[in-house]
Amino acid sequence: MKRSASKYILLSCLILGVSLGLTSFEGEDTIPKVELSLDQSSFDKVMRVITHKRCMNCHPSGNTPRQGEDSHLHHLGVQRGVDGNGLAGYTCNTCHQAENNNFAGVPGAPHWALAPNSMAWEGKSRVEIAKQIMDPARNGGRSTDDILKHLTEDELVLWAWEPGVNGEGEARELPPIGKEEWIAAVKDWIANGALIPEE
Ligand code: HEC
Ligand code: HEC
Repeated sequence: MKRSASKYILLSCLILGVSLGLTSFEGEDTIPKVELSLDQSSFDKVMRVITHKRCMNCHPSGNTPRQGEDSHLHHLGVQRGVDGNGLAGYTCNTCHQAENNNFAGVPGAPHWALAPNSMAWEGKSRVEIAKQIMDPARNGGRSTDDILKHLTEDELVLWAWEPGVNGEGEARELPPIGKEEWIAAVKDWIANGALIPEE
């Protein structure tokens, strides 16, 4: 009797410990959200990055990229063009090189281009964005494994953690969680079935 009671207490402590541990790194939110399952907390982290301006500025709904911390329309008459690389004779890589140019304040990474219309996220809810990213008809024919690889290895994605400085020489804001935490959250969310909660 005594033995099973102490087992029960030990088990409760473990469960409490695990739920607190899983939810204790929720950023500004200091109240532990014990109702979240592991994949939902990873889903939240994944979507907090995806909806950050470092990603959203290149996944706009119109034909113009966005810039800066206030996501204003790209200056200098830049447009998507037929393939997302800009207008003929005025392509993205006229200005954007394979690396940041911190003297001129021009961000750069290999294959700098605008995400296609089918991958536009602006104005959509995080559930709509998540469904779209997982839909091969809209995500460039990618399987779940391809998406995992893209989210954790693509140079345009990883650029968000080394965004350089803007035209005023001020550092661009980083995504809300660090790169390693992002990679772990993506892997965890996908390993647990890439579940997408209701709105
Ligand atoms: C410089 C512009 C640029 C930035 C910045 C950028 N992307 Fe993209 N993204 C693209 C382009 C272009 C494609 C299409 C590439 C392709 O299909 O091969 C794309 C495709 C994707 C896809 C493929 C599936 C889909 O439905 O969108 C995902 C996922 C994605 N990006 C995630 C991100 C995340 C997460 C960030 C920020 C951490 C980010 N991107 C930042 C340009 C960008
Ligand atoms: C005439 C030069 C020029 C061309 C062409 C150009 N850009 Fe830019 N772009 C810039 C400069 C300069 C900045 C930096 C503005 C700042 O932050 O002060 C910038 C910033 C950006 C940003 C903002 C990054 C962020 O998160 O703040 C994105 C996204 C972007 N460009 C995408 C594109 C895409 C996609 C194309 C092609 C369709 C393109 N640009 C063509 C000069 C150019």
